[in-house]
Amino acid sequence: MASHRVGFCLSVKKRRRMNLTAFADLCANRGIDVVEIDLSQPIESQGHFDIIVHKLSDVIVEAEHDSQSQQLLDNFQGYVSSHPQTVVLDPLPAMRQLLDRFASYRIMSKIQESLGRSICSPPYVEINTNDLSIILEAVEKKRLTFPLICKTRVAHGCRSHEMSLIFGAAGLADVCPPCVLQSFVNHGAVLHKVFVVGDDHFTVERPSLKNFPPGPCDRRTIFFNSHEVSKPESCSHLTALDDSLPQVPLPSDDVMVALVRELRAELGMALFGVDVIVNIQTHTLTIIDINIFPGYEGVTQFFGSLLRHIQSVLESRERPHSDSASLSSGEPCPHT
Ligand SMILES: Nc1ncnc2c1ncn2[C@@H]1O[C@H](COP(=O)(O)OP(=O)(O)OP(=O)(O)O)[C@@H](O)[C@H]1O
Ligand SMILES: [Mg+2]
Repeated sequence: MASHRVGFCLSVKKRRRMNLTAFADLCANRGIDVVEIDLSQPIESQGHFDIIVHKLSDVIVEAEHDSQSQQLLDNFQGYVSSHPQTVVLDPLPAMRQLLDRFASYRIMSKIQESLGRSICSPPYVEINTNDLSIILEAVEKKRLTFPLICKTRVAHGCRSHEMSLIFGAAGLADVCPPCVLQSFVNHGAVLHKVFVVGDDHFTVERPSLKNFPPGPCDRRTIFFNSHEVSKPESCSHLTALDDSLPQVPLPSDDVMVALVRELRAELGMALFGVDVIVNIQTHTLTIIDINIFPGYEGVTQFFGSLLRHIQSVLESRERPHSDSASLSSGEPCPHT
């Protein structure tokens, strides 16, 4: 394969975490140059790129109120529009919708509709008001069941991980709109993080919130940070089960494959993660979160898989009329 250039546009933190230098060494052996893109300089002057891999979540969120971030985003978007041959992993409009829980929860509901009974996402409501009677009416109308979990509308940044567990109608006074209220699903304190790289996916188990007695009660709202419960190193009283319960079955492989395939088609993305839990009562696979270009922590095959995906995108670019092109190999995103 002739030499190709793949630009990476990541925050310093993300670059370090994924060990981009080590990935660049691996790519160099296969004739692929990995180049770090500096968004504060015109991208045009940084050379030609066959593919750009990026995670611009911070920039997208900050651009809403910060003109410097808006300029960085304009630089990126300008380059992408004037270089339609450059494949962007992943398309900005697709990523943007995952930064908004209102939008990503609608996607989860859609996936549930298309995959039938094998997969579900918990019922939820979008909250835009502090008016308790309106909130209670919405909760009842959508038949949400206590306890409820409350999450901010914005799905990126430190504040987005501040959540609460609400146990009864009185606790609804603790919501802080805009946010989503979602039925809490008992799942035996096990989270399955599914990491997707093109056609591959890898599943890693993480700690998760413990079971709570179903139904309303007058317990006080519990406020917590999701990173204290579901990171590999998390150790919290909220993740320690009170009673030992029968083991919850592992998610079925077939259902997982169907879920990943459906999500790839729906999102038009190649690098994302899905958080799933298994309902302890019904054993239904339940989607609770979709993440943009996650950390792939615990996935030892990540570099090999990413390299394979990059190579397959490059190959399908060189065979423009091939119908075997992978989903994100330059096809317009369904949401543009
Ligand atoms: N509906 C639910 N039922 C039961 N537990 C839930 C539910 N939603 C979220 N959780 C728990 O809360 C944690 C955080 O939720 P979620 O994944 O939506 O947040 P996040 O902060 O966006 O996560 P990430 O770190 O993946 O970005 C989950 O890992 C899980 O333990
Ligand atoms: Mg999550």
